[in-house]
Parts: sequence; structure tokens; C-alpha cells
Amino acid sequence: MRITIFGSGYVGLVTGACLADAGNQVVCVDVDERKIAMLKRGEIPIHEPTLDTVIKRNFDAGRLHFTTSAQEGVQHGLFQLIAVGTPPDEDGSANLRYVLDVARSIGEHMSEYKVVITKSTVPVGTADKVREAVGKSLAERNARIDFDMVSNPEFLKEGAAINDFMRPDRVIVGTDSERAAELLRAMYEPFTHNRDRMIVMDIRSAELTKYAANAMLATKISFMNELAHLAEHFGADIESVRIGIGSDPRIGYAFIYPGMGYGGSCFPKDVQALQRSAGEVGYEADILTAVERVNNRQKHVLFNKIKAHFGDLRGKTIAVWGLAFKPNTDDMREAASRVLMESLWAAGATVRAYDPVAMPECERIYGRRKDLVLCQASPDVMVGADALAIVTEWREFRSPDLEYIKNTLLTPTIFDGRNIYDPAQMARAGFSYYAIGRGKRP
Ligand SMILES: NC(=O)c1ccc[n+]([C@@H]2O[C@H](COP(=O)([O-])OP(=O)(O)OC[C@H]3O[C@@H](n4cnc5c(N)ncnc54)[C@H](O)[C@@H]3O)[C@@H](O)[C@H]2O)c1
Repeated sequence: MRITIFGSGYVGLVTGACLADAGNQVVCVDVDERKIAMLKRGEIPIHEPTLDTVIKRNFDAGRLHFTTSAQEGVQHGLFQLIAVGTPPDEDGSANLRYVLDVARSIGEHMSEYKVVITKSTVPVGTADKVREAVGKSLAERNARIDFDMVSNPEFLKEGAAINDFMRPDRVIVGTDSERAAELLRAMYEPFTHNRDRMIVMDIRSAELTKYAANAMLATKISFMNELAHLAEHFGADIESVRIGIGSDPRIGYAFIYPGMGYGGSCFPKDVQALQRSAGEVGYEADILTAVERVNNRQKHVLFNKIKAHFGDLRGKTIAVWGLAFKPNTDDMREAASRVLMESLWAAGATVRAYDPVAMPECERIYGRRKDLVLCQASPDVMVGADALAIVTEWREFRSPDLEYIKNTLLTPTIFDGRNIYDPAQMARAGFSYYAIGRGKRP
């Protein structure tokens, strides 16, 4: 099959690589010339486990192509997938500029039937706008060419994206066209071969399903963070509570980890966008408002503990383990590390940070500055630092050399924003140990 994907970011690249791996001829289009040049040279602009191998395999086999030419992309694919960014506008609503740019290009260049698929996360009603934009471009050149609209939201998780695409829990297809539904079924068949996982519905329901899924997951996280807060006040241990409630199959263990709040490119913007959409139809989405408020508060929780411990932070140095918003990615969009570091800097502290993959991204965001030292190895952050803060739960931080840390930090103090250590063991090892929701506040 001939497939075109607009947008070569986390979603577009993974989708393109996996669809090519199933034997399709895939063209990836991006407006970012630097990104396309890198990809043509065999360099991968993002960190996503095994993505480089899949891209290389299919690029070498001649099934995966990269271009900045929208025209080339539109002419190539029967399927036109739109996987461009939908960043938040100032008011929190999803910015559809890039999606509609692509829609117009499709209308301008298509010369035969196409299936136009929105894969980006877009508010309910966007497929109608895309349909209208494609139609308008066609009308402007008096072209009468048939096309179908599909909403096919993406559910991959950064850090596990290839596996999620290759073995999806479900494929949501929203369309009013049987022909398009059958074509999508054929496109996804290699990935849903052992059992049908395609769920076909109307377009608006598909669009809302994506927001509903992310809002539900964000709600679980904020709920646990709220409970962690209460646990601290009550002198209870949120980790025992987590295990206690997770054992109920109606609740389950997934996504009930307290921490430093959700980040990344999806949850924060999608919760906000759904709130805005609700506002547009005159509905006040109270749960979503609370989820966001709790999350914003949670992002400051580690800084507040550090400040409460040290008082004046001027001249202090805090070692930071983890910059990415979660493990196995270099993505720092809305990462808790940013709130922590910016608060520390504002308070006059210096940060010594280490992350296995996100340090180039950190440097891209903040540039070189005197109060940020990026260290090449995880133990190096400790040198000359007053305390260690754990911000991302990378596996390599889970069994640290406590003796080394104790002997190297100026004071043996750990602020654990991900609850990866046992408080009793840390106390035995001689640390002042602060975690999230684990026993009474000092
Ligand atoms: N990242 C995730 O984990 C994830 C998961 C599910 C859904 N989504 C959604 O998928 C969409 C894309 O997310 P992402 O993280 O891949 O974004 P990204 O920012 O990594 O990539 C978007 C790409 O689109 C390109 N682009 C912009 N305008 C273009 C145009 N007119 N033609 C071609 N390319 C264009 C940009 O240059 C950029 O490379 C968003 O709506 C997001 O909410 C993301």
C-alpha cells in the first residue's frame, strides 16, 4: 500500500517506520528541513527505543522515504495520515494551524481518491474542518475528486512506541465511510493479525475517545497525588495505600503511582484542550479543572520540600537525576524537571544534572548557563552538591551506590520525587530522605 504521513515527530516517525516494516511504501513529509536532512542521512532526531533500527531497515529496503515536498507526499499515498503537532494555544485550546495547513495541501495536490486520516490528537469536530479545508482547496481549482475522512487517534506511549504500534491494545477508527473503514482494516491487519482489535465508530466519538483516554489517565495520576498529600498529613504511607487499592481489580495497579505530576506533550495539553472544548459548549468540566490544578501544584512539591529543608537556597547546589518527563524518552515537554530547575535557579541555587538521553534536549532548551552543570555520568552530579533530587525514574537510578552518594554529597540528603527507594533502608543508610506521601511531614 502507498501511505503518506505528514509530520515526522514521535507519532509520524513511529507510524511511518512501522507501516513500512509491514511492507508498505511510505513517504514521510515534514516542513522541518533540518529534520528531513537528518533522516536522509540516517540520523534519528528523537530518542525512541529501537526506532533507529526499524527506520534503517526500511530506509535501506527502499520502503521508507523522507521529503519536505507536500506535493510529492500527496501524490504518493492512497492514505494521507496527518500526524503534525497540535500544541496548545495561549488559552489552552488545541492549535489546529498545522493540521489545516496539511488539509489544504492535500486539496491542492490530490488528483485521485484519497483517505484523509487525522492521527494527531484533535478536538471533536476537527475532521469536519479538515474535510471542509480539503474540499475548499479542491473547489478553488474546480477539481471534483472524491475523498473520505477518518479519525484514527494514536495511543502510543513514548518510550514504548514501537511495541505499542506493532501490538496495539486497540485501533480506533472513526468514519462515516465503509470503504474507508475497509481500507483501514487492511492497513492495520498486519498489526491486529491474531485478533481483531479495530473498533469502528463515528468520527466525533473517535475524536473524543482519545481525549477521554488521556483525561482518565491524568485523573488517576492527580487522584493519587492528592491522596499522597493527605497521606503526609495523616502520617500514612501512600505506597502501602497504593498496593492496598491496586489489589482491587476494579481499580488495578496501572497508573496509580504518586510522583511529581504528569508531564510530556500529551496529558497537560489534552486535559486543557478538553476543558476548553467543554467551555465552548457551555459546560464547566469540574473534574478536569481539578485534575489540572492538582497537577500544577504537584510539580512544585519537590522544590517545596527542598526549600523547607534548607531554608535559604542561595549558594546551594542540588544534584538532579533525570530530566526527561518519563524514562526511555528524551522528551522534556512539560517535564517536572523544568519546574524544579527553574524554581531552584530563581531561588539562587545551582543544578548539577544527569539524564541518560535528555541532556542534549536540556541544552537545547536552556542553552549554557552558569547555574546548570550537565554531568556525563550519574555519580558526577553528587560532587559538591548539597543534596540529590530524583526526578525521572530511569532504571539506572534504582540501585544506587548509597555509600558513594553519602560520602560525596555535602549533606546526605535525598529528595525522591518518584518514590523509588525504601524509606527505612534510606534511614539505616544514614540519609535524610524525603519522598512523596510517605509518612509524616518533618
Ligand atoms: N508524542 C506522543 O506520545 C503522542 C501520542 C499520541 C498522540 N500524539 C499526538 O500526535 C500529534 C503529533 O505529536 P508528536 O509528539 O509526534 O509531535 P512532534 O512535535 O514531535 O512532531 C510534529 C511534526 O510535525 C511537523 N509539521 C508541522 N507542520 C507540518 C506540515 N504542514 N507538514 C508536515 N509536517 C509538519 C513538525 O515539523 C514536527 O516535526 C499531536 O497531536 C499529539 O498530541 C502524540
